[in-house]
Amino acid sequence: MIRDTTIWMSLPVATLLIDAEDRIADLNPAAEGFFNSSAKALFGSPIWDKLAVDAPLEDALARARANSSPLFVNDVDIGTGERAPMQCNLQIAPLLGHTGVMVLMISPRELAGRISQSQGVKSAAKSAIGMAEMLAHEIKNPLAGITGAAQLLSMNLAPQDLELTDLIVEESRRIVKLLEQVEQFGNLRPPMLGAVNMHDVLDRARRSALLGFGAEMKINETYDPSLPLAHADGDQLLQVVLNLLKNASEAAPRGGGTIWLRTYFEHSFRLRRAGAAGRALPLQIEVIDDGPGLPPDLANDVFDPFVSGRENGTGLGLALVSKIISDHDGWIAVESTPGRTVFRLSLPVAPQSALVSKDDD
Ligand SMILES: Nc1ncnc2c1ncn2[C@@H]1O[C@H](COP(=O)(O)OP(=O)(O)OP(=O)(O)O)[C@@H](O)[C@H]1O
Ligand SMILES: [Mg+2]
Repeated sequence: MIRDTTIWMSLPVATLLIDAEDRIADLNPAAEGFFNSSAKALFGSPIWDKLAVDAPLEDALARARANSSPLFVNDVDIGTGERAPMQCNLQIAPLLGHTGVMVLMISPRELAGRISQSQGVKSAAKSAIGMAEMLAHEIKNPLAGITGAAQLLSMNLAPQDLELTDLIVEESRRIVKLLEQVEQFGNLRPPMLGAVNMHDVLDRARRSALLGFGAEMKINETYDPSLPLAHADGDQLLQVVLNLLKNASEAAPRGGGTIWLRTYFEHSFRLRRAGAAGRALPLQIEVIDDGPGLPPDLANDVFDPFVSGRENGTGLGLALVSKIISDHDGWIAVESTPGRTVFRLSLPVAPQSALVSKDDD
């Protein structure tokens, strides 16, 4: 097994742990490089003495800490006292299991390069997931220790106190489940693109939804049967549609609602990328529901990891959808008002070569 410290040491992004008093509690070698100073010299220093920033970052950090939620701040000028400020992207996240302790990752924009927006979203999600994966490794071991200790404790407790140890064990399990989902996310393989009949995929998704989480829903289909095959990974596309159907089912009021699956062809739909010719994405899939719509405060962020409006949601469903679609060089968009929420996927047509290799299999 690779030791946790190895990951911390190898991480190429400057990463710091900030304690509840905003002091530097730890930093990795990349951060030593960023500050051009040794860890020893920086331990315990107030972070705001060491970083010169042009944005109200102190508030941002406090907000992320108070909400126990991650926060991304892009394009801030950061200096270190010794060096002229440079443009950086920051990722801030609470360190699970350590109240008040925050993880701060600093990536200079030179490294991030100039990237188009969709790739920006992709890499932001990627690095957040990378960090989360690292934390997942860090947290699972001590968590197992905590659960074990609670179980030992419970053996000598009066019955009325057992509730507390049960709570520890139960909540720890919930965290482990979340961590496992994060790890699964990180394990996602690149799509194996072939020629895929989207309607077969939609049918499979519809049937399995109706058997499980969508048992109370009505799912209507409006397909254009003349559509050509899509250039996609069938299993991953199924996962995407299932996640969208699951969200629509979970948003529906008790007793269920209605979902429409729609496909159509749109000649003119192109994805424009800086410096590259637009790629044609004429195949459209829409998943429409008549539920309450996206919570307005989340509407702009639903594709980010860990953004959830549900009490037991991990917020990884749509992040996974967005990662898969962007790995396909496709596009996803959402439009939501109360009573009508539309998620639209746009995909490329399978090239002739994909049709041939499919037949060879
Ligand atoms: N069809 C929809 N109608 C209303 N709100 C939605 C819909 N789809 C997504 N949302 C909102 O977007 C949030 C993020 O969705 P996402 O699938 O990423 O995470 P989640 O469903 O909360 O958790 P998970 O998918 O991991 O169980 C949801 O919590 C919900 O608030
Ligand atoms: Mg979901």
